Amino acid sequence: MFDPEKFIEEKIEEIKQVEGKAVVGCSGGVDSTVAAVMVGKALGDDLLAIYVDTGYMRKDETENMDDILEHMGINHKIVHAQDEFYDAMEGVIDPEEKRKIIGNKFIDIFEREAEDFGADYLVQGTIAPDWIESGDEVRDTIKSHHNVGGLPEEMGLDLIEPLYDLYKDEVRKVARELGLPTAEKQPFPGPGLAIRVMGEATPERTEIVREACHIVETEIDKAVENDEMERPWQYFAVLLPVKTVGVQGDKRAYGHTVAVRAVQSLDAMTANFSNIPMNVLERISTKITNKMKDKVNRVVYDVTNKPPGTIEWE
Ligand code: XMP
Repeated sequence: MFDPEKFIEEKIEEIKQVEGKAVVGCSGGVDSTVAAVMVGKALGDDLLAIYVDTGYMRKDETENMDDILEHMGINHKIVHAQDEFYDAMEGVIDPEEKRKIIGNKFIDIFEREAEDFGADYLVQGTIAPDWIESGDEVRDTIKSHHNVGGLPEEMGLDLIEPLYDLYKDEVRKVARELGLPTAEKQPFPGPGLAIRVMGEATPERTEIVREACHIVETEIDKAVENDEMERPWQYFAVLLPVKTVGVQGDKRAYGHTVAVRAVQSLDAMTANFSNIPMNVLERISTKITNKMKDKVNRVVYDVTNKPPGTIEWE
């Protein structure tokens, strides 16, 4: 039986043995935030938490993370690097390439900041499913999750990975024990919205998926509060690379398609699509097409389990 209190105590003691300074990349997800707080408790101001706004973050995420890190008393810095990422992603459509580019950019920025800070270590929020699915001698690569596959070997910083052996539900227990307001937050992939835009993740296309994800989250959160449905484990929107014909007023329109994805899972290794009530799906669809009238004219729901699908579409 996993004991979060004992885990925290033992890990903090272990990390206290580390000599030197560390940087941690806080993407806004539960994993990296928990890793940052645990290492912060062990190292104090010898840790610098770096939040990189890649341009592929959730709506309002940057402001929220700034507040949380401030509230938890973690020494931190917000780096606004949107343009740098958008430039690097120009013309890129392959999902694995997207992950690698974003992973490498992250590391570049870390190295820059780490050098300024005089850091010797890089803290990562890697959890067990990340490395299991990234493949080794016995397992095939399914997706090279960016906090594994994108790491250049010669990055020059030693790694601290306090959550390496944990599954998601265990990380949440640790987050709750630490009193983190992000404990119940759904997982968010390291490459962010870039892998929720099928094809080229331009600023314009990313803006559509950012707004659509926000609407999916808000509407499902409301429906859960009103006891209309159970909270899915993860719920978001994906922008498809197809345009379809619709009507706008009395004119023919030709707009984007958004897919809604919501799944139940325990550890992300397998998942079932969520049984969302039709009226909730209708509200999501209406909100998306109303809010982005001139851009999106079709919304579909994904009814695929994992396997054979994965949770994200890329
Ligand atoms: P898949 O799509 O592989 O996702 O079923 C399983 C879980 O992992 C998240 N995910 C990622 N997390 N870097 C991450 O840190 C990645 O590249 C990545 N790809 C997927 C996904 O959101 C789900 O929770």
